[in-house]
This record gives sequence, C-alpha cells and structure tokens, in this order.
Amino acid sequence: MCGIFGIITSEERLLGPTLIEAGRMLSYRGYDSVGCATISQEGEIDLRKDAGKVETVAEKYNFAEMTGKRGILQLRWATFGAPSQVNSQPHLDSDGDLVGAHNGNVVNNVELRKEFISEGMTVRSENDGESCIHAVERYVDRGFNMVEAIRKAAGDLEGDFSFVIGKDDEDVLYAIKKGSGLVAGYAEEATVVSSDLPSLLPLTRRIVRVEDGEIVIMTPDKIELRSVADGGVIEREIEEITETMEAVKKGNFAHFMLKEIHEQPKVAEELLHLLDNSEDVDQIVARMKTADHVYLVGCGTSYHACLLGSVYFGRLAGKATIPAVATQFMAQYGPTLGPNDVGIFVSQSGETKDVLNAIELAEQKGIGVLGLVNVVGSTLMRVSTHHIPLGCGYEISVPATKTFTNQVLSFLYLALRMGGHDTNILYELPELMKQTIEATDGQAAELAKALVDVPDLYQLGYGLTYPVALEGSLKLKEITYQHCEGILSTEFKHGPLSAVEEGYPVVFVAGQEDVDLIVSGINEATCRGGRAIVVGTEDARLRANGDDFLTIPKVDSPEIEALLIVIPLQLLSYHLALGRGYDPDFPRNLSKTLTVD
Ligand code: G6P
Repeated sequence: MCGIFGIITSEERLLGPTLIEAGRMLSYRGYDSVGCATISQEGEIDLRKDAGKVETVAEKYNFAEMTGKRGILQLRWATFGAPSQVNSQPHLDSDGDLVGAHNGNVVNNVELRKEFISEGMTVRSENDGESCIHAVERYVDRGFNMVEAIRKAAGDLEGDFSFVIGKDDEDVLYAIKKGSGLVAGYAEEATVVSSDLPSLLPLTRRIVRVEDGEIVIMTPDKIELRSVADGGVIEREIEEITETMEAVKKGNFAHFMLKEIHEQPKVAEELLHLLDNSEDVDQIVARMKTADHVYLVGCGTSYHACLLGSVYFGRLAGKATIPAVATQFMAQYGPTLGPNDVGIFVSQSGETKDVLNAIELAEQKGIGVLGLVNVVGSTLMRVSTHHIPLGCGYEISVPATKTFTNQVLSFLYLALRMGGHDTNILYELPELMKQTIEATDGQAAELAKALVDVPDLYQLGYGLTYPVALEGSLKLKEITYQHCEGILSTEFKHGPLSAVEEGYPVVFVAGQEDVDLIVSGINEATCRGGRAIVVGTEDARLRANGDDFLTIPKVDSPEIEALLIVIPLQLLSYHLALGRGYDPDFPRNLSKTLTVD
C-alpha cells in the first residue's frame, strides 16, 4: 500500500540518498510508482517521479543528486488512476508553490476533482493524492495559514488517508493523519515523518506516534501536534525505540520470506512465554466463555488463522465460534449482532481497512472487541479491550508466514486454556518447526522444479487441514502467480474434479486422522491422470498411493500437526516463486497493509 516519508533539516543538504533509502524501507508495503520532491532553502521545488521500482526510477531520474532543506518521498499503490508518471506522487498545486503526497484513499476524489477544475485550479492527474494538495490550496488561496488550510481541507476530503505537504516559502513541513498510519521522529539535525516505523529506524530511535485527527507541524528541531478538530496543541511523549535494525535486514537469507519462515520456531517460543505471562489470556478466555456468539474475524491469511482457530475451539474447548471474513462479517452477521457477542479481530498489521470497518460496526453494536495483532501501537491494538500481541517483530515480506503461525498458535493456546488442557505440550512446537523446515526445504525445492511451469493446481484439506490448504493455496497465488485453488477435500468430487487431466497437480494436505479419506481422494485424482502430491506425516498408505510426498516430523497431536504442515507449503511457494523468476517478497499488485476498502 502507498507509503509516504518526509524530512526537514536544519541546513540544506543532499537528501536523495535518504529519500531512496526510505523508499526501499517502505517498499515491502507493495507499490507500483515512486516519486521524490525536495524544496531548497530558497523555496525551489524539484519534483521527479514515475511508475516503476525504487531502484529503476531513482536511477533514471537521478534521485541521488537531489538536495534541499525539505524532502518528500512517496510510493504509490494505484487506486485512483493507472500507474503512470502523471499519476505518480508527490503532486504540485496549481501554481507550484505547494507540494505533497498522500497514503490512503480519498473516496470523493472524482467529485472533488470536478470542483477544483470548476474553481479554476490546474488538475493534472486522476490521482486522489493530488486532491489532497488542491484541498489545501483552496484554503491557502482564501488567505488561511497552512495549519488552518489543512484543518479545513480535512473536512472536505472523505475517506482514510494521511498526507505530507510543504509550502515553498516556509521552513516547515506538515502532515496529517486520518485513518492511515503515520509516525514522526527526531533525527540528527532534522525531523522526519513516515507511514511506518521501520522506515524511520535508520534515522532515529526517538519517535512521536501520531493519532487520527492530528496535524504534525515539523520544523528542523521540533515536532508539534495539533488537533484537526479545534486546532489546539496536543502534548505527546517522545518514545524511545529499542528494537534492533537486524529485524529489518535480510541477514544471510536471500529473501525476507525465507528469513521469516526460519524465524518461526523462535517467535513461536517467544509467544508461548508471552502467553504464559499474559493477564489478557484469562480475560479473553473468560469473555469468550460467557459470550452468546464468538466471531473470529480477519482477511486473507489472518482469516485462514481464524478458520483454523475455530476448529481448535470446537475440538479442544467445546466452544462453537464463527469464523468470518471481515467484510462478510458485516454483511452477514451485522443485523444479528448483540451486546453479549464477542469478536476476536485478527490482523498482523492491525491496520487492514476491512477489519477496522468491521470493528467500527462491532463497536456500534456494543459487542466486545478483542484483538490478535502483530504491530505494536497499531489501530487494532489501540481499539481492542484486550489483545494478544503476536510478538513476531517486523514481518517485511508481503506474504505472511511467521505472523500466520503465531496467530494460529495463539488460538491453539486459547483453546487449550479454555478447555482446561495443559498448554505445556506446546513447548515441543518450536523444535518440531525447526525439524520441519530442515526436513522439507530441500524436498519443496525439488518438487518446485517439477511444478514450475504448471498453470493451475489444487490444494485439498479436510477438518484441521482445510484452513491450511486455503493458506497454502493463497501463498502460492500471492507469489508465484499460478492459479491455485484451496478446497475442502470432500467438495472436490462435487465439481472441481472435472478439471483434472493427465499431469494435473493436486496437493493433499494430509491430517493424520484422515488417511482413509485422503487415500480415496488421491485415487479419485490419479485414476484420471492427476499428479497427487501429499504433504503430511510419513504414512505407508499415503506414500503408496501418492506420487510425491513432502514429509513432516511425527507428532501425536493432530492440532500441532496442522500448524506444522503449513511450513512445507510456505517453502513450496517460495521455491516456485524463485523458479518462475519472481521476487517472493514483493509480489506485483499486492500490498502488505491494505488500508483501503
Ligand atoms: C493483504 C495482504 C495479505 C494479508 C491481508 C490481511 O491482503 O496482502 O497477505 O493476509 O492483507 O492482512 P492483515 O494485516 O490484516 O493480517
């Protein structure tokens, strides 16, 4: 999703390298265009931008040579207007004395553009970031100072966004947050602002968290916050960040995705200690036990964790829970929600707009909001009555891996606790995860060679492994661009089987309790020429019937087995993406943090 970064320095300096680095750090969010603007001491604006990757656009337009006292960088993920130079950000106002860029979605963009044109402004693009600049221009032209103009502009702009903006003849940089992430910080002889914290870490550890409805007024040595509502000054403590930069570096790994897959045992162990010492666990369990209905709500990978969590609660705690994709939660259950219902909202970023919309509805209906969230300080964390922090550290790669396993582990822990079982059995998981990675990495790489050119695949699961098959299939789609459908294995014969022909790959995500069912499924596929790929614990019958076998270490608990099986599927997707020549960390068209509807 779009990312913005801004800097104001005490002396004019070379800003290009800092802006390029900020672009690199923000690029994990997903983007299609890049742009930089600098403003010199004398107020001259240098604007360079285009569609493309940070490296290519920066080189083509020589961002590295850009100097100034203020700088803005933007990565754009297209919503309003196709990826192109003119739609790239930052944007200028009509006369070229304001420059700025946004992150988010201005939903009344089309209407606003018409108004701006009829008011005589020069509108150059279709992009909603440009509307933010004209919205401010409108009030600057009427004689308002910048803070007042931004406050008024915020009233005209509908949707969720943040933007950063500078005026040529002032030594100030401004930003505003309304729904999209924004964090500011004190750097050396400079202040900085960005869509997210990791991009600030190379420059500062002293940060100021910005809340919705706040304007940031940045001078080289001061960050002031003002309320959009009444213009009043808001006091906020400076936060010292202790996290190391290692978390946002690849280390010895070729990609963040591989690094994050390998981090799963470590973060799982850390999460277990965290849960053992958390007071929120008991509160969440108590709240769930007495609730009329418990909803588990998320999107994408987080929804798959909800699906598996729901199976866990049924099996281990005898508690029925309703998993729901956030948008469908509103459409399907909105009318029936009551004050004694509870929602556990799951989001690694804590900023997914679909999830936040669902929470807004939940709050209106008075239902309890609980959260499973990775990003500390995120919106989901702030609005949850109780939350479980996933403790994964930064997950940079767009396809979620370690955050998924820790979401699932949190649910497994809660289900065991709710059912009165011993959670200590989970301490065998980190070692099993390690063994699974070691055992399946090579096997997955080998299998990927055979599947590299196939256009379509199925992944089938049942019971505990159904959500895992959906997740494995999502991973594959996300980074290999192959079409892969995750299906409940018993539904396969009710339609999808018709596509199977000679060599068609069908992946069976095999739970130890379902061997009979899987053996029938395998034969249904193989007798029609399909290639049956089994992923699961070593089993003579599965081996005898299937064509390929990715084997994970043996574990008695089927619930833990389900968690382990996702690892070879993550690795298979990773190796397939490499084999097909794609960067698994930054898949086209996708974004790590989807802050739009
Ligand atoms: C985006 C990402 C997915 C992710 C989903 C939910 O679509 O591309 O990988 O699963 O958002 O993200 P969340 O941060 O809410 O877990």
